[in-house]
Amino acid sequence: MSDDSPEVFESVSHENRTFPPDATFAEHARIASMEAYEAEYRRSLADPEAYWAEVAENLKWYRRWDRVLNEEEKPFFKWFEGAQTNLAANCLDRNLENGNRNKAALLWEGEPGDDRVLTYFDLYREVNRCANALRQLGIGKGDRVALYLPMIPELAIATLACARIGAIHTVIFAGFSANSIRDRVLDCEARCVITSDGGWRRGQVLGLKDIVDEALDGVESVSEVVVVQRGRPEPFPCTMREGRDHWYHEIVRSQPIHCEPERLDAEDMLFLLYTSGTTGKPKGIIHTQAGYMVYAYQTTKYIFDLQPEDVYWCTADIGWITGHTYILYGPLLNGATAVMYEGAPNAPDNGRFWDIVQKYGVSIFYTAPTAIRAFMKWGDHWPNGYDLSTLRLLGTVGEPINPEAWMWYHEVIGKSRCPIVDTWWQTETGGVLISPLPGATPTKPGSATRPFFGVDAAILNEEGGEERAGILAIRKPWPGILRGIYGDPQRFKDTYWCKWGGAYYFPGDGARIDEDSYVWILGRVDDVVNVSGHRIGTAELESVFIENTKVAESAVIGVPHEIKGQGLVAFVTLKEGVEATDELNRELREMVASDIGKFALPERILFSSDLPKTRSGKIMRRLLRDIAEGKELGNVTTLADPSIVEELQQKYWAK
Ligand code: WTA
Repeated sequence: MSDDSPEVFESVSHENRTFPPDATFAEHARIASMEAYEAEYRRSLADPEAYWAEVAENLKWYRRWDRVLNEEEKPFFKWFEGAQTNLAANCLDRNLENGNRNKAALLWEGEPGDDRVLTYFDLYREVNRCANALRQLGIGKGDRVALYLPMIPELAIATLACARIGAIHTVIFAGFSANSIRDRVLDCEARCVITSDGGWRRGQVLGLKDIVDEALDGVESVSEVVVVQRGRPEPFPCTMREGRDHWYHEIVRSQPIHCEPERLDAEDMLFLLYTSGTTGKPKGIIHTQAGYMVYAYQTTKYIFDLQPEDVYWCTADIGWITGHTYILYGPLLNGATAVMYEGAPNAPDNGRFWDIVQKYGVSIFYTAPTAIRAFMKWGDHWPNGYDLSTLRLLGTVGEPINPEAWMWYHEVIGKSRCPIVDTWWQTETGGVLISPLPGATPTKPGSATRPFFGVDAAILNEEGGEERAGILAIRKPWPGILRGIYGDPQRFKDTYWCKWGGAYYFPGDGARIDEDSYVWILGRVDDVVNVSGHRIGTAELESVFIENTKVAESAVIGVPHEIKGQGLVAFVTLKEGVEATDELNRELREMVASDIGKFALPERILFSSDLPKTRSGKIMRRLLRDIAEGKELGNVTTLADPSIVEELQQKYWAK
């Protein structure tokens, strides 16, 4: 952590309320007491290989592993070396054999109110037809396929179809701009893009195909574009390019409903998911087959304590890791029934989520703190207007949850009866690393509590000494750990393994540990900002601004935000003679929207004559954060120009 990092140690929460697991819940839970958790946890750490091999026995393998964990080329770990499997077959074929053939796999709800139920057999059939169609287009093992789709069943189907034929999927959240798609497609040299004519968002149609066309202009690697028709009965307006573009329904229609799954090696790539880091360039996080599968399976089973009758709803988008692991793979591996919703929580009104809970009888509900804070603001009468009595477990993910939001979630949604699992994890970790087990762990509002089985977490200082508050570190590899950054092994080592001489995985979060060994996540210690649970690197925005010829320099920081958790504020200095105008402000905002996406728009852009810098010219972002938080600034005499701080303070607090 540089001395310019956010001060994680200061924001220590003094929350001390404790909520034991609900007795009725615990009665039927897989792990029903803290003693049982402790015993299983100790066993998993004493011999992680034996533990994970035992878990893997529940899944389907074409060939068994020769070795559970190979650390010889650390940090390029290999799990289940020698094994062959197929994740899609584990999600689908295995369930047909397990008696789940006619059980609902996906309960899909479109934003305009249309719906569709896919049983495990329906999903099997649709995935196989799509997989056969992709094979016919010449796509196969190792090819990269980018998916830019709304939350419609075809997103789940196409993702699973890629997994079935061994193509590497990279799902791009449909809020990203054309430039972001282009960067990702170029980085992984995708051969195929799957998109739709459009998608619904708050009653409006977003023309996804047009955005893809713009993104692919001049991109040579992409030879096939597959377009799902979401517009009914007429497609949303879009143009199809002869020879490159295919309507999904046309190429899939006459395909056989069986498709031989590719036998994949344990460490063959499964997917890439791009995420923000501390540089301007997003990194393609690599996950592979077997370890990811085993980890997704086990965490879903225990953290959500899935039971055969559950109706499980994770409100994330498949464009983020939460959707990959806990909408698709984890629930399907467990034979669960999962709800998938296309649209916004406030379409057509603020009660939509509760309407869905009531309509499908949702029993497990997993969402983000930012959504919870929005619900709080909208008022209790929305959830109170619906029957939420089917709920039995609540979850949260993506950012630290403030105790007020936790309490509201507990009381208003959970009626003080449903346990809450606050799950800490990352794109890189593949699945949850720290979380309560709902039938066992007494919870404290704002704490992710204890590590999952096989996860050895520690809180360290810069030198690697254990602390009560400091930097979160993970000692042992777990099966779901990322295997690299696509095309950049050096960045992989530098980012995650350099601190503490490679002895620990460095996630980039600050944390503290309390007297009950509970972990409290305190937020990022690097220049990544968590806006509404979406990771955005401040350097990404800075590199957008700098592209404008009127801009001399910029520094972007994260500031506390009532609903989003954090918001972005940009400090921008302009070149000689350039005037700060509203017009320029708009211009810069448009650049952010078109280079990254609207979700990355800053709350404010502040123009100033200079930025606070050390005499060696380093921008003091910490001072900017202090200004934004209205803190006493103390001694600023080490700055090259101390007067600049006063100017910024005045401007920041002017309105
Ligand atoms: C933050 C999302 C506190 C954290 C699954 C992490 C959290 C980043 C929590 C990863 C939580 C995620 N409490 N902070 N329960 N869950 N975070 O890659 O800063 O989109 O490093 O993965 O979100 O974000 P990502």
